[in-house]
Amino acid sequence: MPVDMDTIVSLCKRRGFVFQSAEIYGGLGGFWDYGPLGVELKSNVKQAWWKAVVQERDDIVGLDSSIITNPRVWVASGHVAQFGDMMVDCKECKKRFRTDDLTGDQCPECGGELTEARKFQTMFKTFVGPVEDEASVAYLRPETCQSIFTNFVNILNTSRKKLPFGIAQIGKAFRNEITPGNFIFRDREFEQMEIEYFVHPHQAKEFHQRWLEDRLNWFINLGMRRENLRVQEHEPDKVHLRSGEVLRGNAKRVNDVVELMTPDGTQTIAAEEVVAIEKGELAHYSPQCFDLQYNFPMGWSELEGIANRTDFDLTQHSQHSGEKLTYFDPQTNEHVVPYVIEPSLGVDRCFLAFLLDAYHEEQLPKEKRTVLKFHKDLAPIKVAVLPLARNRPEIVEMAKKISADCRKRWSATYDDTAAIGRLYRRQDEIGTLYCVTVDHQSALPHDEKYDGKVTIRDRDTMEQIRVSADQVVNVLREKLE
Ligand code: GAP
Repeated sequence: MPVDMDTIVSLCKRRGFVFQSAEIYGGLGGFWDYGPLGVELKSNVKQAWWKAVVQERDDIVGLDSSIITNPRVWVASGHVAQFGDMMVDCKECKKRFRTDDLTGDQCPECGGELTEARKFQTMFKTFVGPVEDEASVAYLRPETCQSIFTNFVNILNTSRKKLPFGIAQIGKAFRNEITPGNFIFRDREFEQMEIEYFVHPHQAKEFHQRWLEDRLNWFINLGMRRENLRVQEHEPDKVHLRSGEVLRGNAKRVNDVVELMTPDGTQTIAAEEVVAIEKGELAHYSPQCFDLQYNFPMGWSELEGIANRTDFDLTQHSQHSGEKLTYFDPQTNEHVVPYVIEPSLGVDRCFLAFLLDAYHEEQLPKEKRTVLKFHKDLAPIKVAVLPLARNRPEIVEMAKKISADCRKRWSATYDDTAAIGRLYRRQDEIGTLYCVTVDHQSALPHDEKYDGKVTIRDRDTMEQIRVSADQVVNVLREKLE
């Protein structure tokens, strides 16, 4: 049975993964705080991504850029003019909706009449400096990738990379979403992990396909179930020509022509040849985009977008800044504006998907157990050390020593606050990989069964093995590394 969102939200709160931001004041829609286990899981997700796309490859380098930057960036990128959602208000109950969330022309809450649809700018505005006027307006970035484009030449010059190469960044992004919701699925403050992978224009299609496969495999290698993932292509615009031909891509009317951005380049078509343009669902910068979707409790929804952005961004920034943003190809002696393939993933959304996917309920002979079967690289806590008696100094001392030794290598915890059955259930519910139990037999030389060994219990199989106390770290290292 797939888990419902309420169960996950409640587990997250009860166990310290995610809390509502400023809950004591009633929270604030679209803002969340990550508790002690949430921080670990989130950091593991980011590390797993960084390891796969930067550390293990020699063609991608990293960047950590500012959240607020020169507002001209957002004019050039198209965000000031284009970024936002169409929204309507209900004239009766005053609620606000995104038009693409509506099915009819009445308010879904009260059946009231709706206003005309209008564009809502979703970038958060702020002011830089002491004066709050138009000249000091700046924006919180709505995506992390633009500073990759504005740093393109800096990084090219300092890293000396050759095409194809990529730049990766993890960082906060902000969008004043009209309808945040579904827990941490759609937030107003969130994190993104983005790669801009620059290629020769003629290689864009090939790399787009490769990235799609690479990204799908990343989730599967981290234990996500294949049946919960699927690929959907964004519907392109369709340009119907007088000749009867239908062209696909990202179409824009400019004066008396139609510019059609396609994965292979931009075509210009005389307006009189065009009978109609059927708008699709592509973002303004992309002629082709795949969504990697996850089967969330509210239905299949975007987890990661993998877009071909062509040379749109570098060209825009070059035109607006007056700087040359090209790559000099030493083989052909030519300056080229590379195309870019962009795999773009939300950390919070990815966190949610891994959490949902890991959730299992199992019926044991006497009770039900809830277990988060995280991949070992993602589990927030790798080892829990559990002393069986907290009033026996020898047991406590041995358990504390093992816990301290484990902490040097992995996230580990020490818990003596309940009976062992309860402690196991608690660790299962947060996905701890191994529990090490120290008992009388382990630490009391006068005990008739003394063996100096402790128990290591496996989260998924619940199998227990006994190993010498001084070998615990070695045995765990084999399993964890
Ligand atoms: N640079 C391209 C870009 O930002 P996007 O499809 O708008 O494209 C990419 O966002 C990813 O960022 C999404 O697939 C999703 O994982 C995440 N994301 C976008 N908006 C979000 C939001 N409001 N809350 C949480 N994650 C979001």
